[in-house]
Amino acid sequence: MNCRTTLASWQALSAASEQLKEQHLKTLFEADSGRFDKFSRQIPGVLFDFSKQLINDSVFEQLIQLAKETDVTSWRDKMFSGEKINFTEDRAVLHVALRNREASPIYVDGVNVTEQVQAELEKMKVFTDRVRSGEWTGYTGQAVKDIVAIGVGGSNLGPQMVTEALSAYSDGKLNVHYVSNVDGVQLAQVLKKIQPETTLFVISSKTFTTSETMNNARSAVDWFLESAQDKSAVAKHFVAVSTNLEKTRAFGIADENVFTMWDWVGGRFSLWSAIGLPIALYLGYETFVEVLEGAFEIDTHFKTAEFEHNIPLIMALLSVWNTSFLGHTSQAILPYDQALHMLPAYLQQGEMESNGKHVTFNGQTVPYTTVPIIWGMTGINGQHAFYQCLHQGNVIVPADFIASVEPQVALGKHHDVLLSNFFAQTEAMMAGVDESQVRAELTGKGKSESEIEQLVAHKIHKGNRPTTSIILDKVDAKAVGRLIAMYEHKIFCQGIILSVCSFDQWGVELGKGLASNIEAELTNENISHEHDSSTSGLIAYYKQNRNK
Ligand code: F6P
Repeated sequence: MNCRTTLASWQALSAASEQLKEQHLKTLFEADSGRFDKFSRQIPGVLFDFSKQLINDSVFEQLIQLAKETDVTSWRDKMFSGEKINFTEDRAVLHVALRNREASPIYVDGVNVTEQVQAELEKMKVFTDRVRSGEWTGYTGQAVKDIVAIGVGGSNLGPQMVTEALSAYSDGKLNVHYVSNVDGVQLAQVLKKIQPETTLFVISSKTFTTSETMNNARSAVDWFLESAQDKSAVAKHFVAVSTNLEKTRAFGIADENVFTMWDWVGGRFSLWSAIGLPIALYLGYETFVEVLEGAFEIDTHFKTAEFEHNIPLIMALLSVWNTSFLGHTSQAILPYDQALHMLPAYLQQGEMESNGKHVTFNGQTVPYTTVPIIWGMTGINGQHAFYQCLHQGNVIVPADFIASVEPQVALGKHHDVLLSNFFAQTEAMMAGVDESQVRAELTGKGKSESEIEQLVAHKIHKGNRPTTSIILDKVDAKAVGRLIAMYEHKIFCQGIILSVCSFDQWGVELGKGLASNIEAELTNENISHEHDSSTSGLIAYYKQNRNK
């Protein structure tokens, strides 16, 4: 596995990046009236326009060549066939098996995981139907009204993001609340809104050891038992999603109330597994299946489309181009759809936990930037917060703009107003406003020569800020499935192209281990560890001042 920088395509792109830095997107558009047709792609339900990225024909060709030289095809095939491509953890990477709607067999260590997936989906369906129909009752015989989903990271962000994205389609049978933060305020706020007799807790943790989740789960049980006064009632109000039956048993959850997942499902790719149970409970099992179907469409596209037409691959190549060649170290995700307001947070984990790595497959230090900082919020709110910097700041932030043709809720002219902003922003970021335009505008307003001289520099917008526009038909279950799967495969391709292992997260494990050591120090006076003077000082300050 060689270092990417020695590849012919890498070197060609490196040279081209120096030339392209001197180019302006506006000129590229002026020179080629067919630019949109050339650099946009359509698949059912999705328009993907990357014509406002700072590329030209030869850069696009070299990017496709880079994908070929880095052997994306064979890595993709290895992933889909269950090979252990997560080699630092010796695991397969098979979130695609969770939405394999053809139900074709996929083997890991000789076991057909498709059969396991089908069985678990059936268990989810039966359980979801029982809870939603009121057949599943709590310890007083009442039906469930509230679901409290406790989990963190991949065991929270996916389900919560999808719940938020699709809440317009809720039939109102059940409410769902998410608790991820170990800061007690979040759990306390949820507990204030619910009744123990009519609440079902879903404790989601792949490992069932994550401290935040376990603390929240234990506090939820304590709160529940204050009313129920009977430990046997826990079985009717607590279910788990985990791979760790030993721990779920020790916690007191009956085996039949544990929904399983497998070590070949990474946390940040797990919403398609039983980790998505809160989605199914809230919106119905059929809607959950539609999310899977949307993702499966993209899996099929990703597996079969030529590189030049393969949207997730092109997304990855553009990200590599912007980050590793043009040197833009940040990337904004800007949904023009309120329903997608959690998408930036979701993709932060998806991309940064996956590709925020510093060594290549063979352990050598990477000589290029791997992952940009992913951030963002709904575009409209962002416009009134940080877009000033996107337009005129001296850092360039490539951005993904996401909108839909049809709104979830049609209200007067709202959607046209929203979309006019969507179109205006990418146009402005691309074209900018040059000095002559500023002078003409100020002259037209009757400003004097000296006023113009004073203002002109401030009003120039250099433009040339790369954006991608993604337009969905409508934010419904299938569209959400498609969108997330597009980003997942993008992240996968990015990892392969950059030669980083996208499926481990040793950095997170480091923090977990250190926090658990310090927790022992905070809760047991007899334990103390060696720290630097800052950390020791901070801990001492906290211990002296807490409970005052
Ligand atoms: O954030 C780090 C992480 O390890 C994620 O990868 C995972 O999704 C999350 O913690 C939660 O882990 P678990 O599901 O085991 O509680």
